[in-house]
Amino acid sequence: MTTIQTLHARQILDSRGTPTVEVDCVLSDGSLGRAAVPSGASTGKYEAVELRDGDPKKFFGKGVTKAVGNVNVVIAEALIGKEFDQRSLDAALIKLDGTTNKAQLGANATLGVSLAFARAVSESQSQPLYMYFHNLLSKKRALSMPVPMVLVLEGGKHADDSADFQEFMVMPIGAPTFSEALRWGDEIYHSVSQVLKKEGFNINVGFEGAFGPNLESNAKVMDVIIAGIESAGYRPGKDVSIAIDSAASEFFDQGSYVLSREKKSYTSTELVEFYEHWADKYPLVSLEDGMSEDDWDGWMNLTERLGKKIQIVGDDLFVTNVERLKRGIAEKSANSILIKLNQIGTVSETVDAVEMAHDAGFSAVVSHRSGETEDSSIADLVVGLGTGQIKTGATSRTDRVCKYNQLLRIEEELGERAAYVSPF
Ligand code: PGA
Ligand code: ZN
Repeated sequence: MTTIQTLHARQILDSRGTPTVEVDCVLSDGSLGRAAVPSGASTGKYEAVELRDGDPKKFFGKGVTKAVGNVNVVIAEALIGKEFDQRSLDAALIKLDGTTNKAQLGANATLGVSLAFARAVSESQSQPLYMYFHNLLSKKRALSMPVPMVLVLEGGKHADDSADFQEFMVMPIGAPTFSEALRWGDEIYHSVSQVLKKEGFNINVGFEGAFGPNLESNAKVMDVIIAGIESAGYRPGKDVSIAIDSAASEFFDQGSYVLSREKKSYTSTELVEFYEHWADKYPLVSLEDGMSEDDWDGWMNLTERLGKKIQIVGDDLFVTNVERLKRGIAEKSANSILIKLNQIGTVSETVDAVEMAHDAGFSAVVSHRSGETEDSSIADLVVGLGTGQIKTGATSRTDRVCKYNQLLRIEEELGERAAYVSPF
């Protein structure tokens, strides 16, 4: 148990130039933990509430001074001088908020405090943050270096006038180590840029550092990626496979899935057939948010038809929330969960979601948000919880690369003690 001496939040900017919350937590022994909170663009309907000021005169309503004030006044008054461990701190935050979705204090306030406390305690105990997270697990798992989902092309809400699907990623499943995987992914990122340039497309990047060209179809995106993998000298499907995040809630409109690139509209069943065709044609190993967040029947159908062959990941569907995950496990809606700390708003609830997933035989993919900061906690989280997969954008832009760089440091420190094992 550790006593909190001071808590101080401030408003900073994220990678999109939008305000977000940063929290400093100082313990009674003087240890400081600092954490910053990320923010989504294709946000799930069921995520915990991100509290924004709504004052149109400042930052177009996107200021977070209310959330900052909640840390500096309400939370500080309730917590300062008291002893906590991570569980009791997060329970106190949940109780103080008093709602089911952090609507009172804001998940941006609670996560800032929860994560800053985690950092402060790991500092106080002179242990790496990944070990601190590791020790929060109720059932031990081996530490592991994750297989990265390296983003190469983006569309949807993340890049204007680009593909309908939001993220196209490469997974170096055949690499021997994390650092080699990162090198392969980075080489493919640059090869894809060459392929695009040669074909006359622009190489401007989207929110997460990957290219967002105006290609004529979603299938063309897949062709460009495969050309990029091959021209970098790797074998598609053997060395490197493809992962997609459709973010289908974003193109679901009144019961139909509308792919405007291809000028086509699909029913839920037809979209599943579309994915089946892609899984036959391309080296696809993972599909995230293939269906919309309320299309539970569609998810069940997708998992029944494709779940033995590929990873079916729920992001907007589960929102890192054990109640929604419980339903998904019971209904066999997916076989994997995306893990985002700010979707639920505390470290402990995030660990609970990972453990529930693992107990059910689901995989868990730790993820960044499209609005990020220089905070690299998710790199430590994925190693400590041993989930084995991370999604943290392209190998460009410091908001993305700082997570990869932290993983390189961890790999160096752990050496043989952490395996890199491909789940595919
Ligand atoms: P978001 O996108 O952070 O904009 O929600 C990331 C994702 O959908 O995985
Ligand atoms: Zn997603």
